[in-house]
Amino acid sequence: MTRAEELENRLRLLVNFGGAVSKETNLSKLLELIAEQVKTILSCDRCSVFILDRHTNELWSKVALGMQHTEIRVPFGKGIVGHVASTGQTLNITDAYQDQRFTHDIDRVTGYRTRTILAVPMKNVGGHIIGVFEAMNKAGSPFDVDDEGILQLISSLAASAIENAQLYESLSKSQLETIYRLAVTAEYRDQQDTAIHLRHISEYSAMIAQGMGIPEREVESIRYASPLHDIGKVGISDAILLKPGRLTAEEFEEMKKHTVYGAKILCNAESSLLQIACKIAGSHHEKFDGGGYPARLKGEQIPLYARIVSVADVFDALCMPRVYKPKWDATKAREYIREESGKSFDPAVVEAFESVYGEIVKLQAVTDGKSTIIPGITKEMNRHNI
Ligand code: C2E
Ligand code: SIN
Ligand code: SIN
Ligand code: FE
Repeated sequence: MTRAEELENRLRLLVNFGGAVSKETNLSKLLELIAEQVKTILSCDRCSVFILDRHTNELWSKVALGMQHTEIRVPFGKGIVGHVASTGQTLNITDAYQDQRFTHDIDRVTGYRTRTILAVPMKNVGGHIIGVFEAMNKAGSPFDVDDEGILQLISSLAASAIENAQLYESLSKSQLETIYRLAVTAEYRDQQDTAIHLRHISEYSAMIAQGMGIPEREVESIRYASPLHDIGKVGISDAILLKPGRLTAEEFEEMKKHTVYGAKILCNAESSLLQIACKIAGSHHEKFDGGGYPARLKGEQIPLYARIVSVADVFDALCMPRVYKPKWDATKAREYIREESGKSFDPAVVEAFESVYGEIVKLQAVTDGKSTIIPGITKEMNRHNI
């Protein structure tokens, strides 16, 4: 390859890189993807992405050992990576085993022989160090200045994707668990199969959003925010919520307030996810033709996320038994959704629902109650018989 060809090739790989990493929100998958790409772009043997854990003041990375992944931790300030993290300086090392700072830790675990290392700090937009990129053993020669520039560029491109994925990860571990439990509390009074219903709402809404071509990040937001749509039911009395027969007009007026209560509960939250949940809770019973509640919004006035969840919610409510009605066949429920296109529902959402209908019934057939919203939670709930 000539020099010009090589540069062009790298440029092309970098453009691909930006596109690929911005789509991945799962942190482990993202780190793997980044490491793979760096190996290709720099023609090196290994790449490790170390993430700074501020609680323990360590840098951790996953290393592949055959099919398995092992986590490696290096104290801040120790080793090559620790040095780069604490000084913020790039290190380009031509003979690792001659370098006092090199710890051999990874080599001991992997049986790998590190020769050359290029390590650059990873900084977020605020300039804070959030990790270190380490590329090892470039084919044929040591890393050069161009490599340094490229790895620094990659590291700044990767930083925001990594911070985003970390945000989702921390959300899914703590905040999402709380959110999900709240949603269950709100719903378990009137439904025996709450966990399943919430999982359905979550998955169907995400599938429909995907079917509409909505960006992956927003699809994830809908996936996590949609289970909260009926959180406002906590404010509805048992006498109404659990009434076995049809509601009187007056009772239904009261019932309608669950949308307003839900929006009130969620709207002061700072998190963008809860802001989305607020829109969904407040508007999931609005109808496309303006005949819904609580605000009689029409068409595009209704937030898109709410238009999506509305279809998922009604389809699943129809397919599940309720104290006031038996369950419907999926075919009959699908027919109803179609009939209501342009009336209750946004035709574009109904079209997307149709396009993913096959996947929806497949998921419906799975009744093991396992939640993919937050793995493990449903198992826990089942133990408490919720
Ligand atoms: P839900 O039971 O989860 O139902 C959600 C939405 O699914 C309903 O919103 C409605 O759009 C649709 N849906 C559910 N069942 C049927 C049905 O048999 N036929 C048709 N055409 N659509 C159905 P909606 O009507 O605004 O009701 C909101 C919530 O109010 C319901 O949530 C339920 O908790 C309560 N609710 C509504 N009607 C009654 C009732 O007659 N008796 C009791 N006890 N609760 C009711
Ligand atoms: C390092 O010393 O920074 C990395 C640890 C190792 O590769 O052994
Ligand atoms: C549900 O119980 O999830 C649907 C009921 C509603 O949207 O009011
Ligand atoms: Fe509702």
